[in-house]
Amino acid sequence: MSTQTGPAPGTTSPGPVPVPGPRGLPLLGNLPQFGKNPLAFFELLRGHGDLVRWRFGRNRCLFVSDPDHIGELLTETERTFDQPRLGIAFRTVMGDGIIVARGREWRRKRSLVQPSVRPKQVKSYAATMAASAVELADSWSDGERVDIKREMAALTQRIAVRTIFGVDTPADSEAMGRAMDVAQAEIGKEFAGIGALLPDWVPTPGRARIRKAAAVIDAEVARVVARHRDGETERPDLLSRLLTAVDESGERLSDEEIRDETVTLYIGGHETTSSTLVWAWYLLSRNPRVRTALTEELDRVLGDREPGIDDYAQLPYTQAVVKETLRLYPTIWLITGVAKEGARLGGMPVEEGTRVWSSQWSTHRDPRWFPEPEEFRPERWDPEEGDEIAEYAWFPFGGGPRVCLGTRFAMVEAVLILAVLARRFSLDVDPGTVEPVPSLTLQPDRDVLATVRMR
Ligand code: HEM
Repeated sequence: MSTQTGPAPGTTSPGPVPVPGPRGLPLLGNLPQFGKNPLAFFELLRGHGDLVRWRFGRNRCLFVSDPDHIGELLTETERTFDQPRLGIAFRTVMGDGIIVARGREWRRKRSLVQPSVRPKQVKSYAATMAASAVELADSWSDGERVDIKREMAALTQRIAVRTIFGVDTPADSEAMGRAMDVAQAEIGKEFAGIGALLPDWVPTPGRARIRKAAAVIDAEVARVVARHRDGETERPDLLSRLLTAVDESGERLSDEEIRDETVTLYIGGHETTSSTLVWAWYLLSRNPRVRTALTEELDRVLGDREPGIDDYAQLPYTQAVVKETLRLYPTIWLITGVAKEGARLGGMPVEEGTRVWSSQWSTHRDPRWFPEPEEFRPERWDPEEGDEIAEYAWFPFGGGPRVCLGTRFAMVEAVLILAVLARRFSLDVDPGTVEPVPSLTLQPDRDVLATVRMR
């Protein structure tokens, strides 16, 4: 399928030629189609070819589906592709945090934040992750009805608050949790909708809500940072690590930067993982064979005990369940870049200013890279007997210099939570299809209700 071919054999190839996408409106381009259902629109674009031209309002865009082109886009970020400027909702909440920053400022932040999420540090957060999951398991009883969306959000929120801020009591985290929920919802609306196209000065009710939420977050984080500086908290939390991090010139992060980075880690890290878990429970419920294979592994490796970080490597099937969930329901479903001078895709020059889009949702469901793409088959991740998976055909955590900083954190968290809960319980999600709604993350379109069954 894909792109038209270049010149005759023997001549120098200028690279692939983009094919036109679906017809758009004179001023709006393809905006209405995107706005109505971005996931369906991306699949429509993929149907046109691997490199497709389209218009987001007046903006010239390309949509890439081929893993080679996706790899070029991701690995060239910060060189020949820029991250697009994020909208006002992101900036109000995350300030100049690492996700918003670009260029030199981003490099400095990345070098300061990265050490706090290295595997060695994640190992120290793993006990909190498992203990928080055990608390939840202890609170469930046989036959209980639960809303999985709410339960997973509360659990990952508790883990985020404990591992990032080192605080524990509900009083510490409740106000912040509520403000973060409002902030996340508004960022999600802006991310998936046309809000980002409105100039920053246009007042909207959503923008007012997010400013109010950001004020609460500022006050709460300032309180926690002050307590850390006073030495009241001695936990090995992320915040403590950021407070002592130094950059190349020996400089520490200012209080404002600490606020921006901790809030960024919180927003970047908690809803992404909780949505992944909701989809995992949904898929496990609809695939009894996979559920049996998962519990067989948990029984064999753990027996009667709770899991810890040392079990992570011994649970390859549980890891594969998470990877396969992220393939079918990639919680981050879209990555874009803006071409700078010298940008190329497959050897083809890309005009400066062109916005290049890729979507995990559509590439992860492409039968060329994943045979029987609709099937939930964790076995495809088996290193010996699984499928051969092309590099960048699966990119739930992005790739290249701006690859997700929390990849290890998220994988360990999701695997430990699944292990704790699935070892003790089956979660039977009520019948019916749950559809994904693209917001900041890929959200279920409704509450996901389930019955807890003791195993
Ligand atoms: C299943 C869970 C997660 C998924 C699917 C996910 C996905 C992603 C993706 C796709 C990006 C790159 C975005 C882009 O290039 O535009 C990203 C960046 C990032 N993620 Fe995650 N993430 C997850 C969990 C986490 C966690 C737990 C943390 C923190 C503890 C985190 C922190 C970050 C940060 C700081 C960045 C920005 C990196 C940079 O710009 O240099 N993420 N994430």
